Amino acid sequence: MEKTVEYIKDKTKDFIPEIGIVLGSGLGELADEYCEIKIAYKDIPNFPVSTVKGHEGNLVFATINEKKVIMMQGRFHFYEGHSMETVTYPIKVMKKLGVKNIILTNAAGGVNPYFKPSSLMIIKDHINFMGTNPLIGPNDDSLGERFPDMSEVYTKKLRKIAYTCAERLDIPVERGVYIALTGPTYETPAEVNMVRLLGADAVGMSTVPEAIVARWMGINVLGISCICNSAAGISTVGLSHKEVLEAAEKAKVDFKRLVLEIVKNI
Ligand code: HPA
Repeated sequence: MEKTVEYIKDKTKDFIPEIGIVLGSGLGELADEYCEIKIAYKDIPNFPVSTVKGHEGNLVFATINEKKVIMMQGRFHFYEGHSMETVTYPIKVMKKLGVKNIILTNAAGGVNPYFKPSSLMIIKDHINFMGTNPLIGPNDDSLGERFPDMSEVYTKKLRKIAYTCAERLDIPVERGVYIALTGPTYETPAEVNMVRLLGADAVGMSTVPEAIVARWMGINVLGISCICNSAAGISTVGLSHKEVLEAAEKAKVDFKRLVLEIVKNI
């Protein structure tokens, strides 16, 4: 960790990021538009490398409305075979670099039948259905406590800012519960029924481990899902990664506007 942080600090000098953004499937473009410093994951000592198409692998540093931002262009998923420790490693790096607020974004399937494809959802709460937890193992007391409270993973203040920004920009947003499954398979119709019964509005394969670790370390968390498709069984057609990327493409304009406005108002 020390080596990782030292390398990044050496490249970024006196740039101290306060806001972290993790860009999900097809949403990485935002980083390119504001990029000041770009570091490829593969050049950072001890940093993992992502393997999914549509997920680039860069840390991007940008100043947006005088706010210092670090963006992850591409994240690490449990289904890639990475350990939970690897999946959440960059979140710990962000904390060490100075991040106080984090925006986690993702592509997700809509489980709530009222959600339309290409809409945006502010995550109100989550269900960890990955069958494991990123905090299993010895606890690093210097980062957070052994039994962290999870009654408000997604910071109320940030959610409020997100709703206000969406309203001001006239961008319709949903709010709901995100459930994380491991993937890489999309859900069966029966599984979609199940997660709906469990109280989920959207289903995906990321974000929850990162949110848990960020919350544990005392970082304020905001989660935004791009509802790329109606999850299986709700939609009458089969699912493909291509369809997910196309929907992200459509939602991208609103997504970018919303995230920028939120950053300005944090
Ligand atoms: N299920 C799980 N993850 C997803 C989906 C989905 O339908 N769409 C985009 N990511």
